[in-house]
Amino acid sequence: MKKWVAPSPENPRHVTILGSTGSVGQSTVDLIARDPTRYRVEALVARRSVELLAEQARRLRARLAVVADPDQYRSLKEALAGTSIEVAAGPEAVVEAASRPAEWVMAAVVGFAGLAPTLVAARRGAMVALANKEALVCAGRLLMDAIDHSGGVLLPVDSEHNAIFQVFEPDQHRAVDRLILTASGGPFRNWSLADMAEVTPEQALAHPNWDMGDKISIDSATMMNKGLELIEAQLLFGLPESQVDIVVHPQSVIHSMVAYCDGSVLAQLGTADMRIPISHALGWPSRIDGPAAKLDFMAIPALTFERPDSGRFPALRLAREALMTGGYAPIVLNAANETAVAAFLARQIRFLDIARIVEDVMSGWNGLSEAVEGLQQVEAADLEARRLAEDICRTRLQSC
Ligand SMILES: NC(=O)c1ccc[n+]([C@@H]2O[C@H](COP(=O)([O-])OP(=O)(O)OC[C@H]3O[C@@H](n4cnc5c(N)ncnc54)[C@H](OP(=O)(O)O)[C@@H]3O)[C@@H](O)[C@H]2O)c1
Repeated sequence: MKKWVAPSPENPRHVTILGSTGSVGQSTVDLIARDPTRYRVEALVARRSVELLAEQARRLRARLAVVADPDQYRSLKEALAGTSIEVAAGPEAVVEAASRPAEWVMAAVVGFAGLAPTLVAARRGAMVALANKEALVCAGRLLMDAIDHSGGVLLPVDSEHNAIFQVFEPDQHRAVDRLILTASGGPFRNWSLADMAEVTPEQALAHPNWDMGDKISIDSATMMNKGLELIEAQLLFGLPESQVDIVVHPQSVIHSMVAYCDGSVLAQLGTADMRIPISHALGWPSRIDGPAAKLDFMAIPALTFERPDSGRFPALRLAREALMTGGYAPIVLNAANETAVAAFLARQIRFLDIARIVEDVMSGWNGLSEAVEGLQQVEAADLEARRLAEDICRTRLQSC
């Protein structure tokens, strides 16, 4: 078994950030830039945010900067002219960046696009700080097996799973009664279905507690985010679906909990700042100083809890069904959701259509529970489910 060493000026940690220009990526860059003696940056990866990527690469003295969009190669090359930073572009270059010898890789690309590079990092035995939940939802077994075989480690960065990771005692696995995922409830927690039918992208993007990228913000508004997290929790902690509960906790102070058989419940608390779970993963197995505001208990009027409403938020039911069905179901759920969210953001469909489209694609899929063998099958199913979802989006667009 590998012995992981905490980052220090004597033993700087070599890191790569996949998705460095996004919300999680920028928080990771911020933490590294505050303490540069402890880190050496191997590669930074983005899709097409050239200016920000070039600025980050200069600031962190990265060895390599990659854009997934090949059309951006020339702009990135120009933006980094006069430096010794290597430049590359295209999906293959993204995967190549993940294969470089960084011992710690932040997987913060959004969506299914993050799967291939994350898998490469897992296969070569890296510490994979996993924010990209869609990769785990679609190829959970592949990723977990890759980590097991390579001797790498998966460090959950999603605040809920990071919270559970911090209080989960692996040698007491059988003493765990249940995992309790907390959910803020999103911007429409108290809205009627009639009002939710009229929601605009701007309203759905305005999360009450967290400042996040567009896709996860919409997922939080539909509560599909919590559904994906349910699947993620089952994979990461190896408990059946029946032992993972979801509780709405609007203040987002308790980030999740583990209930043990003796009645003890262990929780992790903190302010709603992703730099807390990212710091935990960045310093692991030690803890490092973090810039996030500290929790002020005197400023918290109350901690409240509610049952989630899968009537108004059917994504919760669909994700639970996908988890119980297994096989292709989580891949189809995810691909249909990514497609529908993009269509909603492009104002082609309405807010409540998102879950309907996911349900239609799932119910029309032949052999949802069949076993998935490898990455090729995962990629083929993702592509096909997107095609089906796009067809339904087009039909809805025409009927508007
Ligand atoms: N934001 C949060 O607070 C939070 C919390 C928990 C979990 N997560 C998870 O973390 C992941 C990232 O979320 P985010 O909110 O940080 O997303 P985001 O702000 O949209 O950022 C996504 C990042 O991925 C890059 N990217 C997109 N497509 C790519 C591709 N095909 N190849 C390479 N890079 C690509 C983007 O580059 P460009 O900038 O060039 O487009 C950007 O750097 C998601 O899976 C999300 O569910 C996020």
